[in-house]
Amino acid sequence: MITSGKLTLESFQKIRRDIDSLLGLEVVGYDGSGQRIMAICSNRGISNVLINDPVPWVISDEWTFEDVATVPYVYAICCYALYEKGKMKKGDKILIHSGTSSVGQAAIHLALYAGCEILIKIHDENKPLDLPILAYPRYFCKYHMSYIILGGLGGFGLELADWLILRGAKNLLLTSRTGLRNGYQRSRIELWKSHGANVQIIAGADASDHKDCAFILNSAAEMGPVDAIFNLAVVLKDSLFKNQTAESFEVSFKPKAMATKTMDELSRKMCPNLQHFVVFSSFSCGRGAAGITNYGMANSIMERICERRVQDGLPGMAIQWGSVDEVGIMSDMQTDKEQNFTGILKQKIQSCLQSLDTFMVLNRTIVSSMVIAEKYAELDGVMNILDTVTSIMGNLFFIRVKDMKMVGLRTPLSEIGMDSMMAVEIQQTLERKFDINFTTQDIQNLTFEKLRNIADKDKCSEQTKILDLACVKFMIHLVSNLDIVSDICLEMTTRNEAGKKQIFLLPGIEGCGSVFNSLASKIKVLVTCLQHGANNIPMCESVLQSAATLLSVRIDIIGKLSVPYFSDRIPLD
Ligand SMILES: NC(=O)c1ccc[n+]([C@@H]2O[C@H](COP(=O)([O-])OP(=O)(O)OC[C@H]3O[C@@H](n4cnc5c(N)ncnc54)[C@H](OP(=O)(O)O)[C@@H]3O)[C@@H](O)[C@H]2O)c1
Repeated sequence: MITSGKLTLESFQKIRRDIDSLLGLEVVGYDGSGQRIMAICSNRGISNVLINDPVPWVISDEWTFEDVATVPYVYAICCYALYEKGKMKKGDKILIHSGTSSVGQAAIHLALYAGCEILIKIHDENKPLDLPILAYPRYFCKYHMSYIILGGLGGFGLELADWLILRGAKNLLLTSRTGLRNGYQRSRIELWKSHGANVQIIAGADASDHKDCAFILNSAAEMGPVDAIFNLAVVLKDSLFKNQTAESFEVSFKPKAMATKTMDELSRKMCPNLQHFVVFSSFSCGRGAAGITNYGMANSIMERICERRVQDGLPGMAIQWGSVDEVGIMSDMQTDKEQNFTGILKQKIQSCLQSLDTFMVLNRTIVSSMVIAEKYAELDGVMNILDTVTSIMGNLFFIRVKDMKMVGLRTPLSEIGMDSMMAVEIQQTLERKFDINFTTQDIQNLTFEKLRNIADKDKCSEQTKILDLACVKFMIHLVSNLDIVSDICLEMTTRNEAGKKQIFLLPGIEGCGSVFNSLASKIKVLVTCLQHGANNIPMCESVLQSAATLLSVRIDIIGKLSVPYFSDRIPLD
């Protein structure tokens, strides 16, 4: 019913955290005292251990677990409908729709048992589904443990906190440099509190500092043993490498490399129950990008720390994210959601969380999640170089420049707001789509005037290409495979009138007599075409050379003629 869309999850589950977990309404197994039971539960019955209070019935000895696996839910529905609501009694007549369905079968059984007369309607569509439903691993949080998110008030941080709470986390500690700053953050905290979550925010503590880091870990431990630490904190300080300084590297390093290093050291001693040590890295770390060398290196250090932790038998995972849509640092950099960013598209936050679900139960140290752009998607072939760069920078114009007329054509793009991320995108897009290799410096000095000149040149060469192509097509159209024959002398069909001279025609580059078909039909003398055919006659550079070659090859055939007639003007009569 759910897969066919007849039932929507929302119509069943009103509680947010249960919306994706409708399946598993009934279970069979053993209760706490080892008794065999079948039971109804609110959801998530596909599980080895069920903590919620189910409504159980003891199973009789004759029934196997398989026998009763589908009994509780359908029989509960039928008992409720037939006995409670319908007041079913012996002698009643009952119409049962969908008699082959699980509920239908149970209703038939109960009605017969009660001594009723039944009419059954059977639909073809109620074919039994024999596909097995496989259990799949799913990440759950432990309500008595605590979860730390460094940078938890950021775009992704708020989503992660929400996700953890929906997965059962009760105790969360989020860090930030400044604390709550906007209504959205506040509304999230209120929502989580309404779910019974205990959310603590620590503002101003620097996780790279030993004392502050210990404070963060102790504060979390007071809520419950620390189960997971996530580092999402980030500060961007973009600049070309030649302009980077020790300070600009430190700004990037502090929330990432340095905080992760201190967290690693202290959590080894202070968090004996730690199950997850997760850092958020970036695809740009593995791939590199001009202007964000400090960011790339900070991510790389975090990844190496995770690798070392895993070598030491400790939890550690770095996730290289691509470009996240809807929330976070990249969300307002581009308006067009399908914008191709260095070969990748933005990934919806829901999709990121699904990836996280997979990663959290994987035993891997470095993982990545990104949406690879289809090569040369829509834009290609349609946009010229100018359009392409404008579209990459488009969002920026609308935000900062407002009016395109204000953009000086000779002003370097770097002076009208192109940041390092855009520069990389422009550089890589031009290389990939237009085969134009610009150095980082070229990109910095690039102006719309230069781009327009390149676009104009491209247009000219494109037109020449189109003309060339037209000629080639014309040729290909004229000469087909059937025309390439081995005969050197081809007698053409003409309007021959006896007694007239004979003409020899020499085809040009195309080498086939068939190109003269139309002409020959108008000539009133015998016409023989000496053609190259399929004989691999050496390439000739001029008509005369070609003629000489052909004549020497087949002089025996035309030897009877006194002088072959050469002309670029063919007499029709
Ligand atoms: N969004 C993406 O497309 C993307 C792509 C690849 C990787 N990532 C990674 O994913 C993580 C989350 O990114 P995001 O998009 O959520 O970024 P974000 O919205 O900028 O959030 C990061 C938060 O880190 C906090 N922060 C900075 N320095 C801190 C410090 N010393 N201590 C505590 N908090 C600090 C900032 O909050 P305060 O100002 O309140 O301190 C900021 O809100 C980052 O590590 C980023 O590198 C993101």
